[in-house]
Amino acid sequence: MVFQRWCVTVKNITVLGSGVMGHGIAQVSATAGYNVVLRDIKQEFLDKAMEKIKWSLDKMVTKEKISKEAADGIYSRITPIVDLNEAVKDAEMVIEVVPEIMELKKQVYAELDKAAKPEVIFASNTSTLPITEIANTTSRPEKFIGIHFFNPPQLMKLVEVIPGEKTGQEITEMTQEFVKSVNKQAVLCRKDVPGFIINRLFIPMVHEACYLQDRTNATLEEIDSAVKFKLGFPMGIFELADFTGMDVIHKATVEMHLRDKKVINPHKTIEKMFDEKKLGQKSGEGYYKYSDDKYERVALSEELAEKCNPIQLVANILNNAAWLITNGASDIEEIEKACKLGLGLKKPLFETAKEIGIKNIVDELNKLAEEHGEFYKPDPLLESMS
Ligand SMILES: NC(=O)c1ccc[n+]([C@@H]2O[C@H](COP(=O)([O-])OP(=O)(O)OC[C@H]3O[C@@H](n4cnc5c(N)ncnc54)[C@H](O)[C@@H]3O)[C@@H](O)[C@H]2O)c1
Repeated sequence: MVFQRWCVTVKNITVLGSGVMGHGIAQVSATAGYNVVLRDIKQEFLDKAMEKIKWSLDKMVTKEKISKEAADGIYSRITPIVDLNEAVKDAEMVIEVVPEIMELKKQVYAELDKAAKPEVIFASNTSTLPITEIANTTSRPEKFIGIHFFNPPQLMKLVEVIPGEKTGQEITEMTQEFVKSVNKQAVLCRKDVPGFIINRLFIPMVHEACYLQDRTNATLEEIDSAVKFKLGFPMGIFELADFTGMDVIHKATVEMHLRDKKVINPHKTIEKMFDEKKLGQKSGEGYYKYSDDKYERVALSEELAEKCNPIQLVANILNNAAWLITNGASDIEEIEKACKLGLGLKKPLFETAKEIGIKNIVDELNKLAEEHGEFYKPDPLLESMS
């Protein structure tokens, strides 16, 4: 794959960080034909990442999704390198996938800025950190962009593309085309807002589900059944939280709340579970208990769904969706696309809202605002739609 736009030709990608996300991004880029350098701070981390890539490619060969020759070709296009200067010397684009710690990211970009040629594009896979703030620590904020792959990158089709305040239009368009070239679908988050699109909808909803439980005494299974069978989610919200991991949810909560107090109404359960290391499936216990680290389905049913009215959850997710539109970060079409690809929603969000009635949702938000505070105040867009 050679990707060309105006004066920029991209055929060499460097991925910084070979962990959970980095090795997957390297694999999908090499699968699309790019020459990929995978960089980490220790050779043993790279060895492990290359093993995982080999395992994943072998599995695809066994399932007859690709030929043995294709798998060998993909593997040979990924070069693991520890030395940073060596790793970026031929790159046209660097995708940074180091841990979600602001100070660490800034440190990595300070080194990278010196090592990479001035024309090299920097794309960060951050889930929650402000793109503009990181971009402004480099000498090239106009060539800096957010490229948010979802876990696991080999399977998840959605990639959020987030320009910072100074990102050049051609870099945004180029990144969207790059995403397409690696067989993914880009959703543009037009503004660098906390949580971008998916986390802005999903993370507050986990907190809201905890409040729903407190306020109605519904069981986890009843709430999850309602989310699955009435709202069209592929699984319950607590199941999804356990699957995602309480460490990821807690981290996203802290970062989003730090930047905007109105995005999330933190429920103490999340922090408590994080402190107690009840991280979900990966630790054997989250909202539910898991007998081993394999994914287990919780028994949900339409019958249980009838015992829970999820309007409070719909009101929460809709209010955040409306906020994204009102603030120029997205529109209904892009939000629906993101929800389908990123959350696996089977039914469009605004269709569910119309079935319930936008007026009923606004009434619910006003009632919640009266009882529990300004956080629930309906977005003006919802009020105008009702
Ligand atoms: N895990 C997820 O579900 C997920 C999903 C979407 C986005 N993200 C984002 O992706 C990024 C990485 O997350 P992860 O889960 O892959 O983390 P991870 O801890 O699994 O991997 C990070 C890797 O970066 C390496 N690293 C540290 N400093 C480095 C440096 N200076 N140069 C190169 N490599 C360095 C670490 O050794 C490690 O191998 C974060 O910004 C995270 O928010 C994660």
